[in-house]
Amino acid sequence: MTVERTFSIIKPDATRRNITGKVIDKIESAGLKIVASKRVQLSREQAEGFYAAHKERGFFKDLVTFMISGPVVVQVLEGENAIAKYREVMGATNPANADAGTIRKELAESIEANTVHGSDSPEAAQTEIKFFFDDNEIVG
Ligand code: PPS
Repeated sequence: MTVERTFSIIKPDATRRNITGKVIDKIESAGLKIVASKRVQLSREQAEGFYAAHKERGFFKDLVTFMISGPVVVQVLEGENAIAKYREVMGATNPANADAGTIRKELAESIEANTVHGSDSPEAAQTEIKFFFDDNEIVG
């Protein structure tokens, strides 16, 4: 059994609609434990830094502008195969392609306002967790 940690963002479309609880219910129902959580307003510099890997993409500016359009909830999730499991629970990037029962199928508005982010690899999880949390803020 591989207990892993992954990094999650509940995006501004969810805080705007006051549905963070619905997202959290999906996370916990999947057996993932929230071991750190905080609600923050990202600055443009922070969002650009976080998404630096996508800076050459055509949607980069829109993505950053969306991610700073309101508060987000950043979290560390822990569980067996947490990285892959959370990607499964989130569903495809574009909610139109997401499977039934996933967060994005049930809650997302569009490919941009797609409600959640989750790390896509162990390396990304480590970097992203460190971007937002000190070790002493994570309580298993
Ligand atoms: S890829 O090709 O796998 O790297 O890209 P993907 O994971 O699909 O997307 C990377 C992040 O960019 C967001 N995205 C978009 N934002 C705005 N507009 C468009 N068209 C768009 N396409 C993708 C997508 O939601 C991903 O954000 P995160 O926060 O990582 O989920």
